[in-house]
Amino acid sequence: MKLKEKLRELTQLKKGLLATNYYDLETLHGVLQAAAETKQPVILQLTQSSIDYMGLKTAVNLGRNGLEEFGVEGWIHLDHGGSVDLVQRCLDAGFDSVMIDGSELAFEENVRLTREVVERAKSYGAHVEAELGYVAKLGQSHHTTGFTQPDEAAAFVEETGVDALAVAIGTAHGFYKEEPKLDIDLLRKIAEKTAATLVLHGSSGVPHSQVQQAISNGICKVNLATEIKNIFMASLKFELAYNEDIDLRKVFPKATCKITELVKTKLEMVGNVGG
Ligand code: 13P
Ligand code: ZN
Ligand code: NA
Repeated sequence: MKLKEKLRELTQLKKGLLATNYYDLETLHGVLQAAAETKQPVILQLTQSSIDYMGLKTAVNLGRNGLEEFGVEGWIHLDHGGSVDLVQRCLDAGFDSVMIDGSELAFEENVRLTREVVERAKSYGAHVEAELGYVAKLGQSHHTTGFTQPDEAAAFVEETGVDALAVAIGTAHGFYKEEPKLDIDLLRKIAEKTAATLVLHGSSGVPHSQVQQAISNGICKVNLATEIKNIFMASLKFELAYNEDIDLRKVFPKATCKITELVKTKLEMVGNVGG
């Protein structure tokens, strides 16, 4: 099924679709094992850094082959694409979906950039996500967050024809110093004014009840990155400290299993949203 159809179907059911970042074989397999065990679909995301780390072809083929091998329904997505050039390379490499992140630009500039990407993605049948409002990046002060305005969101989607919109409603990338408080009223107003799929970035560190409330009120795609990296590295450090084994094929899977446990709880979170 095309990603657009899947998102439409899930939005109607008021269910979320988890989008997890992968960085290498281990993080990918940790996620896929969780999706396979729970028979849930998943979006596999790559940032520019992960693409640079693995190489574009290797990165996308690793994801694609992994989906097939684990028997998981899923899509490969470019997360926070920073330029039309990168988007173009990802479209050529066969991504199902691309994000163009113009959230730091002025409204009109963001519209112009997003429209260009929507235009390019058309002939590939690829799905496009953009961001309006600003979700603080890793390590940035949360004060740089500018919440999404409902009227602007409506105009942005209308003018760009974009499929999905990342909204700023109180989340930030990475962990939080204090528990975040999502602005659900604002989200509801945004959802009322636009038919685009709404995306929640920065879900690491957000209590599950708040993510579920967001899904009940219009969010469908839920992005998760930091918690995956964190649990993998914490577990790996532990294993390396107490384990003499130099066979990485025996050591790494212990950390990979931790990702599977984590992602199963996140799949449950987005799939089982009550009322
Ligand atoms: P977290 O790192 O807070 O989970 O955010 C992930 C994200 O938004 C990826 O685009
Ligand atoms: Zn993000
Ligand atoms: Na976060």
